[in-house]
Amino acid sequence: MQLFLDTTDVAVLKDLAATGLVDGVTTNPTLIAKSGRPMLEVIAEICEAVEGPVSAEVAATTWQAMLDEGRKLAGVAPNVVVKVPLTRDGLMATAQFAREGVQTNVTLCFSAAQALLAAKAGATYVSPFIGRLDDHGAQGMDLIGEIRAIYDTYDFDTEILAASIRSPAHVTQAALSGADCATIPPEVFAALFKHPLTEKGLEQFMSDWAKTGQSIL
Ligand code: G3P
Repeated sequence: MQLFLDTTDVAVLKDLAATGLVDGVTTNPTLIAKSGRPMLEVIAEICEAVEGPVSAEVAATTWQAMLDEGRKLAGVAPNVVVKVPLTRDGLMATAQFAREGVQTNVTLCFSAAQALLAAKAGATYVSPFIGRLDDHGAQGMDLIGEIRAIYDTYDFDTEILAASIRSPAHVTQAALSGADCATIPPEVFAALFKHPLTEKGLEQFMSDWAKTGQSIL
């Protein structure tokens, strides 16, 4: 499963990317607003910081304007993936981008029916929002399994990019449900490394090793 960071914080991105475990980045208009920086500048910097796919979202709502904005975003760097909302216009733009060979991430997906349309439109990625469905009282993770079943039945190439991730458990469950990728907030990504028994066990190993008085080097 590919692990992406859901962030526009380049310093945090570089810190976590140094682990070699970050496969790409996703952004959205809210994250761009939080950065307080010009969008094209921060997307260019992110594309420099990681080799993998970097999702940059259009702000337009009509398919023609999405095409104009998406082509500009795609021109920022070869690893830009154009992110469009899962709307009628977004899927019309997705189909045209597919014809042009531009990679797309269809976002704000909340149903398997929507995900079916995204795959038929030729989306590279579809982003089902798990956390927001949970927030809405639904079982967000069920959607990943439903999409997986549909995509496997009809052999769609679109990759399932589990999004709106709120915890390490979401990452595990998304992997178990067959997501191809997960996009993870930095604080959740950092939590993936941790388990209290690992810390406790390491403390004991170090204490027992110290008693040997030995040195490996
Ligand atoms: O960036 C896409 C998605 O991961 C954002 O989800 O619910 O944390 O805003 P959310």
